[in-house]
Amino acid sequence: MKKGFLVTLLISAGIIACQPASQAAKEESQKTVAKATAQNKAKKSSKEEKFRRALGAQDKWQQACSNPVQLAPEGIDVAQFIKEMKATIKYPADGKLVGDWKKGESLALLPKEYKALYGKKGGSKKGNCYACHCGDPRIIACGNIGPSLRGYGNKGIDPKLTYDRIYNSWSQVPCSTMFRFGYHGLLSPEEIADIVAYLHDPESPINK
Ligand code: HEC
Repeated sequence: MKKGFLVTLLISAGIIACQPASQAAKEESQKTVAKATAQNKAKKSSKEEKFRRALGAQDKWQQACSNPVQLAPEGIDVAQFIKEMKATIKYPADGKLVGDWKKGESLALLPKEYKALYGKKGGSKKGNCYACHCGDPRIIACGNIGPSLRGYGNKGIDPKLTYDRIYNSWSQVPCSTMFRFGYHGLLSPEEIADIVAYLHDPESPINK
């Protein structure tokens, strides 16, 4: 009986002695868990936002564009529409709206189009501009949903307008069928600047 009491006493003393250290460790691990949870939440919500924009719920203007009744002139406030779309446009950190036309060409052309022109790997599936536009006269299998971009750089158009058009076509043509490349995160601001160069540079095959 006495021995049992002693053991209990020793164990209790041990627990008490360890308490401050384990308490601090517990608080530390709780902090780490809280931090990780907050980080995960932020990551998840930015992923959800991306997904929502790419495929998910329609915003109010997307709904308006999908609804022929609302598309009636009295049903859509065009000035407000354009104002809100302009506000979504983000520019490259260095402020350069005209990048490298060769990089832009590689973003605008599909890999198979690039290979056909240059016999080597290049191109991307990000822009797919030739699905809807013509431009480089060597690409004859091109689309006519959008106007031809042949000689686009010789027309004296402000490159900022070109940038905005590619970033969010709805900032200029409400409900346009042209992808909103920047708005939907299909192309980064720097990539859009490279495509602007592809359309404007006198050396680009678009203008030669
Ligand atoms: C799904 C079809 C589609 C795709 C893909 C597309 N566009 Fe367009 N684009 C259009 C249409 C349609 C127009 C006509 C105006 C409008 O509705 O926005 C247009 C207009 C333009 C204009 C204005 C032309 C002018 O003369 O005023 C530019 C510049 C342009 N597109 C560039 C591009 C580039 C660069 C790409 C690839 C990164 C691209 N587009 C991909 C459909 C498309």
